[in-house]
Amino acid sequence: MGVFVSTDDPGPAGHEQVVFCQDRQSDLKAIIGIYSTALGPALGGTRFYPYASEEAALADVLDLSRGMAYKNALAGLDLGGGKAVIWGDPDQVKSEALLRAYGRFVQSLGGRYYTACDVGTYVADMDVIARETRYVTGRSVEHGGAGDSSVLTAWGVFQGMRAAAEHVWGSPSLRGRRVGVAGLGKVGRHLTGHLVDDGAEVVATDVDPRALEWARTNHPAVALVADTAALVAADIDVYAPCALGGALNDDSVPALRARVVAGAANNQLAHPGIEKLLADRGILYAPDYVVNAGGVIQVADEIEGFNFDRAKLRATRIFDTTRQILRLADDEGVPPAVAADRLAERRMADVGRLRAIHLG
Ligand SMILES: NC(=O)c1ccc[n+]([C@@H]2O[C@H](COP(=O)([O-])OP(=O)(O)OC[C@H]3O[C@@H](n4cnc5c(N)ncnc54)[C@H](O)[C@@H]3O)[C@@H](O)[C@H]2O)c1
Repeated sequence: MGVFVSTDDPGPAGHEQVVFCQDRQSDLKAIIGIYSTALGPALGGTRFYPYASEEAALADVLDLSRGMAYKNALAGLDLGGGKAVIWGDPDQVKSEALLRAYGRFVQSLGGRYYTACDVGTYVADMDVIARETRYVTGRSVEHGGAGDSSVLTAWGVFQGMRAAAEHVWGSPSLRGRRVGVAGLGKVGRHLTGHLVDDGAEVVATDVDPRALEWARTNHPAVALVADTAALVAADIDVYAPCALGGALNDDSVPALRARVVAGAANNQLAHPGIEKLLADRGILYAPDYVVNAGGVIQVADEIEGFNFDRAKLRATRIFDTTRQILRLADDEGVPPAVAADRLAERRMADVGRLRAIHLG
C-alpha cells in the first residue's frame, strides 16, 4: 500500500503526512496519519489494536484519518483529519511509559495533530498522554475534558434521524414511528431515551444480557428481539445500527423493511455499492459519519475550553447538515453517501484555499 497520492487514490489530495513512531523499551509502535490540515489541525482518536501486520496497521490509519477529514469538515469544525494507531495488544503492552512515549511523539508534531480516544484507548489514557503533550482531547472532566462522548453522539444521531424523517415523511417528529436500535451500548441507550421522549416506539436488540436488562428496567415499553437479523426483518420505519461496522451488507439490505437508516455505528456500508442498493430499494440512508459526529464535536470543544451547551448547539446542527445533504443528493441524483463526500470536499477546498490570502 502506497502512502503517496497515486492515480487510484480515491481522495482529492492524498495524505499530507504519515509518521512512524517507535520506543523499543516500552514496546511502542505507533503510526500517526494526517490526511488533511486544510481546515485546521488534524483531530482523530488513537486506536490501540493487535493488528496482524504493520501493513494492516498502516492501511487502517490511512483509511481512518481520511474518514476523519470528511467527518470534521461536515461537522463544521475548524479541524482537519487525522488518526493514529498503536500496534499491539493493549492488555499486554499498555503502560504509563508507552502512553507517555506516544504523547511525546504527538507533541513533536507541534499541534498539527490532536489525539482522542478510540477503540482500545480510554479517557484515563488520555490523561496520561496529556502529561507529555498539550494536543490531546477526550480527557476526564477533572482535567477539563468533555467526559463521555456518547452523550452528544446520540444527540447528533437523533438530529440526523429527524432530518431523514422530515425528508421521507414531511415531519421531523418520530412520534408513532417504529425505530429499531441495534446495540444498546453507550450511544444506543442515550438514543433510546431521546426516541422515547419524542414518542417513538423502540424495538431493540443486543448480544449482552446486561444491555437487555438495562432496557427492561429503564424503558419497559421497549420491545426486545432476539438478534439483529430479527430486527432488520421486523416491521420498523427506521433502522439505527449502533453496534459494529458493516451493518448494511448484502444480507441485511435486501431484508430491511425500514424506509430510513440512521445510526451511530462507524462504517455501516459493508462495501462500495451498498449505498446504491439502498437507494434502489427506496431506503434513505443518512450517512454514518455525518450523523455520528456529535462525539468528535464534543471532544473538539475541549480545545476552546469545554462548554457543554456550546458543544450541544453544534451537535444540534447535524439536523441542518443532514437535511442539506439529502437535498443535494436529490438535486444531483446521487446517493446521500456520495452527496456527503462532495459537500465535505467542497468545504475543504473552499475554506482551505483561504489560507492563500496573504495577511500582511
Ligand atoms: N461513543 C461515541 O462517542 C461514538 C462516536 C461515533 C461513533 N460511535 C460508534 O457507535 C457504535 C456504538 O458505540 P458505543 O460507544 O455505544 O459502543 P458500546 O461498546 O458502548 O456499545 C455497543 C453495543 O453493541 C452491542 N453489540 C455488539 N455486537 C452486537 C451485535 N452483533 N448485535 C447487537 N448488539 C451488539 C454491545 O453488546 C454493546 O452493548 C460503535 O460502532 C462506535 O464506533 C461511537
